[in-house]
Amino acid sequence: MPLVPPYIEALRPYVAGRSAEQVRREYGLETVAKLASNENPLGPSPMAIERTRQDLAILHRYPEAGMRLRRTLAETYDVKVENVIAGNGSEGIMSNIIRTFLCDDDEVLTTEAAFIGFQVLAQSRGIAYRTVPYRDWRYDLPALAAAITSRTKIVYLANPNNPTGTIFTKAEFDDFHRHVPERVLIILDEAYFEYAKDNPRYPDSMYYRYDNVITLRTFSKVYGLAGARIGYGFAHERLIANLLKVKLPFEPGLLAEAAGIGALADKEFLHRSLELNARGLRLLTASLREMGFTVAPSEANFVMVECAGAAQAAALNEQLLRQGVVVRPLAAFGLPRCLRISTGTDGENQRCVEAMRRAVEPARV
Ligand SMILES: Cc1ncc(COP(=O)(O)O)c(C=O)c1O
Repeated sequence: MPLVPPYIEALRPYVAGRSAEQVRREYGLETVAKLASNENPLGPSPMAIERTRQDLAILHRYPEAGMRLRRTLAETYDVKVENVIAGNGSEGIMSNIIRTFLCDDDEVLTTEAAFIGFQVLAQSRGIAYRTVPYRDWRYDLPALAAAITSRTKIVYLANPNNPTGTIFTKAEFDDFHRHVPERVLIILDEAYFEYAKDNPRYPDSMYYRYDNVITLRTFSKVYGLAGARIGYGFAHERLIANLLKVKLPFEPGLLAEAAGIGALADKEFLHRSLELNARGLRLLTASLREMGFTVAPSEANFVMVECAGAAQAAALNEQLLRQGVVVRPLAAFGLPRCLRISTGTDGENQRCVEAMRRAVEPARV
């Protein structure tokens, strides 16, 4: 028996977007627009920073396992604290879900080229990982429902989805849910919830009280706290109680928790971030389509651009890097002909569009 199980040997480790500093040095640039990791270009929520400062004085104490944030979320969303979990980012909670619910013979089902974090986590468990193709860059929920077998334990859906940015509607989800047996756990990953929530067709899963659905959300995106590692989830209390048994006892850390509590109250920052993102989405989508690219309709804080092929995508990526614009090539997700571009500040978005124009219309420069 080898020391490392074959399914771990076969894994490709998660490769994060390149840091701005790395690109700046490598390409000898003065400034870099980092549009690769769906972060908030405005920085962290000021109220999160303020609230974090208050907790510096109690850093000698062990945290209360996220209880303060769980209470705040329960009050905010009018649910019981027993329905809420907090963790080291939503990926931290995802990792706990995988450890808690999956047995060796179980299958996980999702779309092709799903969020890479989920792909890596699920495959590290050594279970069967099955996917269904996209339809027009959207989840094909009827095909997913039809693909459920007696071994399926978890169905993973991200809404809005990463890397496509597309959503499925309330009506589509309701129809899907009717076809999913009670014994199957649905993970509804709503990392980009805030960007889509005002769309009346978007199913805010907080209003679903299904016993087999767990909703995951994060402070990493619109609240600008990706570096703090703080996320949360809502589910039936029986699911949460079991997750709490498996979770690291002191996760999340005190400062991350405090940042989340501060951010939740920061309505002004939320509003400003959403306005900036909406402008960015409009500019990037319209400009890139004008250049002839297929751009999936996004309800998140990034757009996915489809190139003519993998070679064009790689060449564009390189030309953007040389101009100091860092985007995310999607080969690791399983989409080698696509690039994902996060929205930035107004200036960064403009810089990205100009860099793209120079890259696709070299004759005109
Ligand atoms: C769909 C999706 N889920 C989860 C995450 C991870 O969020 P967190 O930083 O809370 O772990 C991301 C981040 O890119 C994401 O795109």
